This record gives sequence, structure tokens and C-alpha cells, in this order.
Amino acid sequence: MDLGLKNKIAFVAASSQGLGKAVALELAQEGANLIICGRNKESLGKAKDEIQRISSEEVLALDGDLSIAAEREQLIKKTLQVHTHIDILITNSGGPPTGKFEDFKENDWDKAYKDMLVSAVGLVNGFLPGMKQQRWGRIIAITSQAVKQPVNNLVLSNSVRASVAGLMRTLANELAVYNITVNNVMPGYTETERLKKLIETSPSFESAKAEIPLGRFGRPEEFAAAVTFLASERASFITGVSLAVDGGWIKGMF
Ligand SMILES: NC(=O)c1ccc[n+]([C@@H]2O[C@H](COP(=O)([O-])OP(=O)(O)OC[C@H]3O[C@@H](n4cnc5c(N)ncnc54)[C@H](OP(=O)(O)O)[C@@H]3O)[C@@H](O)[C@H]2O)c1
Repeated sequence: MDLGLKNKIAFVAASSQGLGKAVALELAQEGANLIICGRNKESLGKAKDEIQRISSEEVLALDGDLSIAAEREQLIKKTLQVHTHIDILITNSGGPPTGKFEDFKENDWDKAYKDMLVSAVGLVNGFLPGMKQQRWGRIIAITSQAVKQPVNNLVLSNSVRASVAGLMRTLANELAVYNITVNNVMPGYTETERLKKLIETSPSFESAKAEIPLGRFGRPEEFAAAVTFLASERASFITGVSLAVDGGWIKGMF
């Protein structure tokens, strides 16, 4: 199947490692032009080199913190100095710390909200005018299985991710008129640095494997394949969905 992604311009947030990088690699494999970002210049540079090896176009790697308004605006500005618009926006962020309700103070909630929700709002604001002008766009949020079923010891994620899913579902309704589709992809336990750290801080995450019908953690490229399909021309009639890539972990019917 030709996904129709050749020469599409894709901004993948928080993409120097893990799920974001896997999505960037998959999109580059399909011929898209990539903009990637992260805070650490060294890991960003390594990710750029890795993606550049399979990309015929120059990969734009921008360092900055998506949760800080001024830095996020710089990322958007620098992108739009190189590309007139972007076609595909993948929102993503670092994951919040583990913990239960009584472990967190107001500033922890503020940080989680800025990392996960405000960063997505800011990126959509920055790139929406170009998509509307093109009358073509894909917005895809990377959230979590926590949107559908709370994960133990992750109250910040369980709470704030739901707001991102609500935002995306609303945008799907509002932006369909511009031929922009908006979807939410919910990773389950997937082998990345984030999962390694979760297991180190709370060994109960390792035993979560037993709750996954497929009996194993996911691989980043399995997650990336689903996102890439939704970003493609072939997914032109799919909008407003929340798709789990979780090996069957979510136990609800819908
Ligand atoms: N892996 C899983 O099992 C799983 C399951 C459910 C949900 N999720 C969620 O999916 C998202 C991605 O997970 P992952 O496993 O890929 O995490 P990861 O391996 O920790 O990678 C996170 C990426 O985000 C970047 N990043 C973090 N904070 C940033 C910021 N403020 N501004 C810009 N870039 C930032 C990191 O680079 P720098 O640190 O250099 O900035 C890195 O490239 C997270 O929100 C995570 O909670 C993951």
C-alpha cells in the first residue's frame, strides 16, 4: 500500500528517543520530511543522524523545551523559517513521574499540565494556520493507555492525559471542515527508556507484562506503524479515534 507520505512535512514532538523517535523513523522511511525536537542536544544529534541515514531530505533537529512557552514558540518559528507549513503534527511529551495522589503538590500538577496539555495546545496553535491554508492536515497525539484505564501509581498521567484526549476529540469535530484529521494514539507498555525507568523506580511495572494478553511489552516500531498509518493519505476518513497499541491491556470493550 502506498501511504502517500512522500514529501509530506512532519513535526514530531519529543522525538530524540523512544516512541517519538520511532515515529519519526517510520515517517522518514515513507519519504516524509522530518522535524524532530528534544531538550538534550547530544541525544537529539544522535537521533538526527539515525533518521538522516534513511531520509533523502535534510532532517531538521531543534533543541528546546516544549513545556516552556518561549522555547516552544522558537521551535515553531524555526520550523516555519525552513518550511512554509507542516502537514503532519505529532504531539508528544516526556512522561510524568510515578506516584499516588498524596505524593504530589500543586507545582507537580502545574508541570504535568504544561508538559502534556499546554505543549500540545501550543503546537496546534502554531501549525494550524498552515494546515488550514493547505486544506490538508494530520494531528495525532501520543498519550497513553491511561486514557481508557488508569495505570496504578501514575495519577498525574491518568488525570492529564484524559484532557489531551478531550482536546483531540474536540479538534476532530472543529477541524474536519478543513480536511484536517485529528486522532489520539494510546501506547501501552512499550520498550523505551521511559519504561526502563518506570521499572527501576517501581518494580510492579515489570509484572504488568502478565496483564497483557499478548504476553509481552510492545516494541516502539509497532507503535510507530499505527501512528504512521493514521498520518497517511490512506487514513483520510479516520478522525476522532483513540487507538490503543497495547497488546490488549485495556480490558474495556470500547
Ligand atoms: N513507553 C511506554 O511504555 C509508554 C506507555 C504509555 C505512555 N507513554 C508516554 O508516551 C510518551 C513518550 O514515551 P517514551 O517511552 O518515548 O519516553 P522516553 O523514552 O522518556 O522519551 C521521551 C522523549 O521526549 C523528550 N522530551 C521529554 N520532555 C521534553 C520536553 N519538555 N520538551 C521537549 N522534549 C522532551 C525526550 O528528550 P529530552 O529528555 O532530551 O528532552 C525524549 O526524546 C511519554 O509521555 C510517556 O509517558 C509511554
